[in-house]
Parts: sequence; structure tokens; C-alpha cells
Amino acid sequence: MKILVLNGPNLNLLGSREPEIYGRETLDDIEVLMRARAEQMEIELDFVQSNHEGELIDAIQERRDWDGIIINPAAFTHTSVALADALRAVALPVIEVHISNIYARETLRHHSYIAPVAWGQITGFGYRGYRAALHLLHQRISEAQAEGEAESGA
Ligand code: DQA
Repeated sequence: MKILVLNGPNLNLLGSREPEIYGRETLDDIEVLMRARAEQMEIELDFVQSNHEGELIDAIQERRDWDGIIINPAAFTHTSVALADALRAVALPVIEVHISNIYARETLRHHSYIAPVAWGQITGFGYRGYRAALHLLHQRISEAQAEGEAESGA
């Protein structure tokens, strides 16, 4: 099982960026945590961060034959039709993660272009949201694989 974890602009600054909103964990801390869990669950993980919209889109397209995507699109959540289109195009199960609770913040953060193409959204649980997303996606993909095997008689 292969899962892409994608992080958008300014998330490379986690740990020092507005810690009262985003916490003290760095993106490296989150990656270490997720890799440890992924290993236990036998998931192959790619962990990508970019400040550039096109690079995020390329990362999605390059892994269109993977099993699922966890994405924190950061500010592109609220602006990017292109990112939503890329996710729609690859048609993989997607979980949208936000460290902060976007609905408890400024109105401009209440709208997500990604939410309609996502399986679901996890918002406001800090770094823990990534871990929860990994478990949920693993469960969904495993269930789909088991159903596929049952149907094919394998
Ligand atoms: C964020 C919320 C966004 O509104 C913001 O632009 C970010 C981070 C979050 O993880 O809480 O950069 O996606």
C-alpha cells in the first residue's frame, strides 16, 4: 500500500511558525511519527512539501497509480481550483488535514476547494490529525482491497 503525504506552502516552517496556532512540532517531527506508524502498518510513504502549487500538482500526477493521498494544502486550500482538479483527475481517496481548526479562524479560511474532492477532512487536532488520517486511509484501502479479492474469488 502506497500513500502520498503532501504539505503545502509555509508548512516547512512548522515549529517556529505561529506556534500558538500550529504548535511546536516541526514537519520533520511529523514525518518521523508518520514513518514509524507507516512501517508498523506496512505502508510505503512518500512525504513531500512544496511552497509551489505546480510542484504539488506534479507530485499528485506522478503518483496517480498509488493508493491514497493525505494532503494539507495550507493556504492553497482556500484558493486553488488547480489543486482540486489534480486530485479529482487522479481519483484516489484523499484526506484533507489541517493542523488548526480552520472554522474557528478568519472567514476566508472557512471555504475549502479541496473538501468536495476529499473523502473527509480532519481539522484542529494539531499534528495528531496526520496520524489519524494515516489510520483512516489504511483502513479504507485495506477494506477496498479485501472486497476486490472477495469479488475476484482470490
Ligand atoms: C493550515 C490552515 C490554512 O488556513 C493555512 O493557510 C495554513 C495551514 C493548517 O494546517 O491549519 O497554512 O492548512
